[in-house]
Amino acid sequence: MAVRRTLHLARGTWGLCVLFLDHDVIVCARNGSPLIIGQGDDEMFVSSDPHALAPYTHRVVFLEDGEIATLTNTSMKLSTLKGKNFNPNITVLEEDWGVSELGDYPHYMLKEIYEQPDALRHCISGRLDRVGGNGRLGGLKLEPRDLAKVPHVRLLGCGTAYNAAEIGQIMIEKLARIPAVAHISSEFRHNDPVINPNALHFAVTQSGETADTLSAVKEIHLKGGSVYGVVNVVGSSIARECGKGVYIHSGPEQAVASTKAFSNMVAALSMFALQVGRSRATSKEQGKQLINGLQEIPHLIEEYLEDQGPILEAVEMIKDAKCVLFLGRGISAPVAKEGALKLMEIAYIPCLAYPAGEMKHGPIALLEEGSPVIFIAPNDHVKVKTISAIHECKARGARVILIHEKGDDIANEADISIPIPPVHPLLSPLLTVIPMQLIAYHTALALGCNVDRPRNLAKSVTVE
Ligand code: M6R
Repeated sequence: MAVRRTLHLARGTWGLCVLFLDHDVIVCARNGSPLIIGQGDDEMFVSSDPHALAPYTHRVVFLEDGEIATLTNTSMKLSTLKGKNFNPNITVLEEDWGVSELGDYPHYMLKEIYEQPDALRHCISGRLDRVGGNGRLGGLKLEPRDLAKVPHVRLLGCGTAYNAAEIGQIMIEKLARIPAVAHISSEFRHNDPVINPNALHFAVTQSGETADTLSAVKEIHLKGGSVYGVVNVVGSSIARECGKGVYIHSGPEQAVASTKAFSNMVAALSMFALQVGRSRATSKEQGKQLINGLQEIPHLIEEYLEDQGPILEAVEMIKDAKCVLFLGRGISAPVAKEGALKLMEIAYIPCLAYPAGEMKHGPIALLEEGSPVIFIAPNDHVKVKTISAIHECKARGARVILIHEKGDDIANEADISIPIPPVHPLLSPLLTVIPMQLIAYHTALALGCNVDRPRNLAKSVTVE
């Protein structure tokens, strides 16, 4: 009763467990923050993440806002803030979430970088129709005739998820020839967006608990739109709020710096782009090419990881820099942002990412003798334009680290050349991002930073 009365007065976001000195009872409540109850044999558990409960029990209850749970070791009573009792709705967690132990790796980030090939195999498995050259994302519950009528697509995310959403935007426009826009979730609802109920909205998130993205989803629901989740954590708040979508199946991601979730978000969005593309502007042949390309990616990443190029030389060049500039064009522009985000968050080096063509409109002023610039230039239709930007940088004394396709003459433009295996241009982010993850990882190590738990950051950001 005291908890209930207090909660009526409370403002803000919380996930609470109230303990009592003289009673063997825990009272739990939430508002905005995740709270999950695990039911064991003669024991109960409370967590903010369902998968933390997996070693103890698979039977969980996701508490919702406005609900209160009263727990003893053998009982669970649920009620609303108004005092109405109701029965728990027990969910049984899937068994195959994956292992989250470090094993032989020194850090989770490195482990997760190396897990990308298998995580991608898991993500695409059973979701590609090779004969029809199509994607098969059953969780979307969208038929070709529905997709053919979609007026536009909007994608929401924060940080790495936003960068993946930007890549999704480019792939959807390219394959389906309908407008697609990526939005930063934290801005979305505050700009009073106009929602078209016929449009498709995607909430892209690893944790499924990011408060900014959850609020954006709720804003769309409030305005009559529907949102599909592109989520890693099964049963998370955003997955449940959306009620439909695609699980990206990365398995547990422990390092604060996201790596394998980024790749799987991009892969999931590429399969959606293919699916909507095939209902509109993409031919079966083009579809098959993309499918072949996607199926090759895990192997190509393994090939690259076997022979990573001069990553440590790149680390030497950037580790004491005042600022590192990341540049890419087209589909590599969001990859540049992702590289900058990774280096900034774990090595604390100020980084700036720009579409390469925009460099001459401002960031070029930063360049001086020896300034390091990381370019991403796969073998696509904008490569020639990127070369012009490389020349402009070099003319100001900048030193160029270049991520490019193996065997491409563009290597001659670089001070440090990092080759990746040749790849389908639309899928190049899945390869070009890997050296940047490694550069960030090794730079953080060289600077003595805490790679997996960087300062001031949390894995799930559950406040707006
Ligand atoms: O769990 P989410 O994917 O919604 O998280 C979004 C961002 O907080 C997250 O990507 C953050 O930017 C990472 N630390 C990036 O490595």
